[in-house]
Amino acid sequence: MPDHIQSAVIIGTGNVAWHLGMALQSKKIRILQVLGRRADPAEELAGILKAGYTVDPGTILLNADIYIIAVTDDAIGEVVRKIPPGSQLVIHTAGSVPMSVFKEQFENYGVLYPLQTFTKGRDIHFEDVPLCIEANKQENLDRLIWLAELLSGKVFSVNSEQRATLHLSAVFACNFTNHMYSIAEQILNKHNLDYSILHSLIIETATKATCMKPREAQTGPALRNNRILMDKHIKMLEHNPPIKEIYQILSENIRKYLTDEL
Ligand SMILES: NC(=O)c1ccc[n+]([C@@H]2O[C@H](COP(=O)([O-])OP(=O)(O)OC[C@H]3O[C@@H](n4cnc5c(N)ncnc54)[C@H](OP(=O)(O)O)[C@@H]3O)[C@@H](O)[C@H]2O)c1
Repeated sequence: MPDHIQSAVIIGTGNVAWHLGMALQSKKIRILQVLGRRADPAEELAGILKAGYTVDPGTILLNADIYIIAVTDDAIGEVVRKIPPGSQLVIHTAGSVPMSVFKEQFENYGVLYPLQTFTKGRDIHFEDVPLCIEANKQENLDRLIWLAELLSGKVFSVNSEQRATLHLSAVFACNFTNHMYSIAEQILNKHNLDYSILHSLIIETATKATCMKPREAQTGPALRNNRILMDKHIKMLEHNPPIKEIYQILSENIRKYLTDEL
């Protein structure tokens, strides 16, 4: 029977700190304190979570059951070194940072990587968010599984290497796809057309990709290797070399991918 987590300190005040904090609070886990880099966002999040706040790692409360570091990937190592070392359970939420970032400083540590895209202030069903967890000891894993299952119906035990792979795949499935939407919006706006006209297409594309193989769902001129149409598109992008290059690389990749050259 794991020693259940009842209280938390949240480190970071961004998208994940916000969503995870709200999810924990909704499951009656007490947020004791928010540690931020800047006072204003720390105070704001602490207000929502009915917690205290600080910007000084030296004044972090030491009596929480778990310390959740939800800061920019590059800053995790620096933040880990600023927290007073001890036997408390400390985790981070990053896809790309190995769990070993904790090993010089802490006895009990792990990772809870929520495989979703979060933006502060936007509602999300946390119960549906896949939570990928890892811990340095079985007892810590048991505690994290208990916590993760309290928050979500989708809990997966993965090691640091598998998590890095999931993160890489998520960059393609989410970040790059979203950037394509930005490019589409820019192209439409330049010609005084409204982006909302694409909404149904975007939703159907995403829905299809979840119920059939994306490879089988592919449509468009590159799939048909329609060179005349692709040349016309490339001409339309002549004024914008970086986007033209993206068009050419992706079209070539679609063609090779679908003819099994990749
Ligand atoms: N957003 C997502 O969709 C998502 C999904 C899964 C996992 N994650 C992971 O969750 C973690 C947090 O991501 P996020 O999206 O919440 O980031 P975010 O919204 O950009 O917030 C980053 C937080 O880190 C703080 N920070 C940045 N540099 C710092 C430093 N040198 N020292 C101390 N604090 C620093 C920022 O403080 P300031 O406000 O003062 O800059 C801010 O509170 C990351 O590891 C990310 O990979 C994110």
